[in-house]
Amino acid sequence: MALGCEAESLGVLPHKPDSANSVGEKGMAARSQPMTRPAIDVQPIAGAMGAEIHGVDLASLDDASFAEIVDAFHRFGAIVLRNQKISHDQHKTFARRFGALEVHPIVDGLAGHPEIIKMHKAAGDAATFGVGWHSDNSFTERPSLCSVVYGVTVPPFGGDTLFANQYLAYETLSAGMRRMLDGLSAVHSAKYAYTAPTTVDKYEGKTTMSYRHTEAVQSEVVHPVVRTHPDTGRRALYVNPMFTVRFADMTEAESRPLLDFLFRHASREDFQCRIRWQEGSVTMWDNRCVQHTALDDCQGFERVHYRVTVEGDRPQ
Ligand code: SIN
Repeated sequence: MALGCEAESLGVLPHKPDSANSVGEKGMAARSQPMTRPAIDVQPIAGAMGAEIHGVDLASLDDASFAEIVDAFHRFGAIVLRNQKISHDQHKTFARRFGALEVHPIVDGLAGHPEIIKMHKAAGDAATFGVGWHSDNSFTERPSLCSVVYGVTVPPFGGDTLFANQYLAYETLSAGMRRMLDGLSAVHSAKYAYTAPTTVDKYEGKTTMSYRHTEAVQSEVVHPVVRTHPDTGRRALYVNPMFTVRFADMTEAESRPLLDFLFRHASREDFQCRIRWQEGSVTMWDNRCVQHTALDDCQGFERVHYRVTVEGDRPQ
C-alpha cells in the first residue's frame, strides 16, 4: 500500500482525494479561479512511495503551494521537485519552513553556509557520498527530520538515489516479530561509517569532501527499533545498516543475525522507489519513515548535490 493511502485512511492527514493525481482537482481550481496560481502537479512514481512534482518554483513559493508540498511529503515519503533554480540562501529558506537547520557534526559544510553539505563526486573520484542504506544522522540524539537535496551536476547516467518505505517494512512483519521489536531499542553510532580508517578507506583521498573527526564519530545513542511518526501517527521500522550497530543491552555478535534480517527486509524492492536526478531537481525525504542510499555507479562522471537537513525530534 502506498504511503499516502494508509495515512489518509487513518485520517491523520488532510484528505485531498485528487491531489495524488492532480489534474482533475487542479484543473478545476485553475478554471474556477483563473487569476490565482496554477496548482502543482504531483505524480506518484512507484507503488510503495515517491512522487514527482512539477509546476512549483521554490525560489518564489506561496503558502498554498507549500501546503501542497507538505501534503505530498507526508503522503509519499520522498518527493522530487523538477526544474528548480535556487541559490544557497533560497535552498536554506525553503528547508527552514520545515524546521531548524542542522550543521553536520562530521562532514564540513560550505564556507559561509555551514548548514549546506556539498556532496561532491569529482569525475576522478572513486566513491560517492551516501552509499549504503541509512536514515540521515540517526547516530545523533535528534536525527534529521528531513533532507533537502539540490542536484546541480548530474551524470548522464547512474548516480540515482533509492528510497525505501519503513512504514511498509514494519507493517509487513509478522505480529510476533512486531510485538518483539516494539519492546526493543538499538544503539546507533557513526563509528563504522565515519571512523578515521573507514572514512579514509571509503572517502578520503577518493573524494573531494572533507570531514571533522569529532566526538560525534564515536558517540553512541539509543533509539527505539520502531518509532511513531509524530505527524502521521504511523509506526515505522527504525534501524539501518550504516548506523545501527547493535540492540541495546546486547553485544554486536548477538544482535547481528536479527539486524541482518531487518536490514534486508527494510530495503525490499517492493518497498522502494528510485529517483533519477536531473539538473535542477530538488529531492526531499522524510528520515523518520524512509531509508535511502545513493548509487555508486557513475564512475568517470562528476556529481554535485547540495544537501541541508532539518533537525528532528527524539524518536519515540
Ligand atoms: C545522502 O544524502 O545520504 C546521499 C543522497 C544522494 O546523494 O543520493
